[in-house]
Amino acid sequence: NTRTKIKTLLAQEATGQEVIVMGWVRSFRNNQFIALNDGSTNNNLQIVTELGLLDENTLKRITTGASLKVVGELIPSLGKGQKVEVKAKTVEVLGDCDGEKYPLQLKNRPSLEYLREVAHLRFRTNTFGAVFRVRHSLAFAVHKFFNDKGFVYLHTPIVTSSDAEGAGEMFRVTTLPLDNPPRKEDGSIDFAEDFFGKSANLTVSGQLEGELGAMAFSDIYTFGPTFRAENSNTTRHLAEFWMIEPEMAFYDIEDNMNLAEEFIRYIIRHAMENNREDLEFLAQRLAEEEKQLPQDKRSEMGLIEKLEFVLNNNFERITYTDAINILLDSPAYKKKKFQYEVKWGIDLQSEHERYLVEKHFKKPVIVTGYPAAIKAFYMRMNDDGKTVAAMDILAPGIGEIVGGSQREERLEKLVQRMEDMHVPVDEMQWYLDTRRYGSVPHAGFGLGFERMVQFVTGMGNIRDVIPFARTPKNCEF
Ligand code: 4AD
Ligand code: MG
Repeated sequence: NTRTKIKTLLAQEATGQEVIVMGWVRSFRNNQFIALNDGSTNNNLQIVTELGLLDENTLKRITTGASLKVVGELIPSLGKGQKVEVKAKTVEVLGDCDGEKYPLQLKNRPSLEYLREVAHLRFRTNTFGAVFRVRHSLAFAVHKFFNDKGFVYLHTPIVTSSDAEGAGEMFRVTTLPLDNPPRKEDGSIDFAEDFFGKSANLTVSGQLEGELGAMAFSDIYTFGPTFRAENSNTTRHLAEFWMIEPEMAFYDIEDNMNLAEEFIRYIIRHAMENNREDLEFLAQRLAEEEKQLPQDKRSEMGLIEKLEFVLNNNFERITYTDAINILLDSPAYKKKKFQYEVKWGIDLQSEHERYLVEKHFKKPVIVTGYPAAIKAFYMRMNDDGKTVAAMDILAPGIGEIVGGSQREERLEKLVQRMEDMHVPVDEMQWYLDTRRYGSVPHAGFGLGFERMVQFVTGMGNIRDVIPFARTPKNCEF
């Protein structure tokens, strides 16, 4: 199999050399011109079949969606829009595709909603081709960034007994016979024996295990699937999403913010350098989509411009208290445009976050110093005794994209806070051991990978940036 990828061929000097290409038909014109795509790029390769080369039967079988093997000569193209084309010597249909039934055989450009219904085929469209090549590239850049800085990639467990975020949004994992489960005295199912004798859940975050790694390797990161059993039907929430969680010993909150900014810029730059064509395609798609919106709902910057802006400008850094004051001072607040209440102590709602980044600062913002009461137990208490060393990064068009903090490294303070927040101290002695044996200041953060992919591709719905979306009532394959 000496098949060459179409992306590679399109960049080659065409001197009549023999090539073998395989892919799927995007269109077939005049019984002569085949647009072939193999997913390596959105640019189709034009295959020219001279009249008389193919018999009637083969001609009929070359339909949109059919798969082909073509052997031919790579020659300069006379047509517009491509530099090279293949003059076919043989065309073999590998798999037929019934044009009448093929769900992507549509005259008009299919909507994203429709493509979500045929999600098993949507990789074959230009939009999803571009999105998932960019997603791949961002994932690759994540590993490269941390590898080059000497971080260890730590694989944290998917099945776990701890609730890292203490938010109780876990999917239960069970080996119990549910047709005849063990019962407690009151008749309810006794889940304590879930996992061969221990209660078990799907992880909501690899952070706590990541901290164990950081206490030995100094710097680690995780990159894996995480699960939240929250019944939220929004364009920003998935039940299964991928998270990148670096954890660094000897880091304070300032170091943490600096690393997060550098990291985000690095992976964006990587995509800009390696996926320019796909990003330009997505920018164009977004611009067309926004033309349908009223003027005041359109973005001020195009996608490429927005990404370049992020590469060239520092994120704004403010405290939670600043954020509340800005909101209280805002025209939106005075005109009662916010649905949720604004006062010190609230959890910032998505409308508040978006006001800050989209209307006020018009750039990504890092908010620090949240009230302890609304944040997880492991965050370090500030000297004021009421705020913690948390940092959330908010991005235009998305809202929260990163959540992180400096961790509470002082044993007594940590235990106190766990007790206050009803975190089971007895079951988490393994975690507390890190504070007993050589505890050090440390910090880390979690980047929601799909939200990052949304930011870079400009896709409005998180279901469209993960290959197989898991949302309430959505678990088809
Ligand atoms: O803010 P979160 O809950 O933080 C943590 O899990 C920490 N343990 C991270 C750490 O410090 N190591 O989640 C982190 C990020 C959010 O900022 C968001 O981008 C993403 O994960 N996220 C989700 N993405 C998609 N769907 C959901 N349901 C998400 N929940 C959180
Ligand atoms: Mg958060």
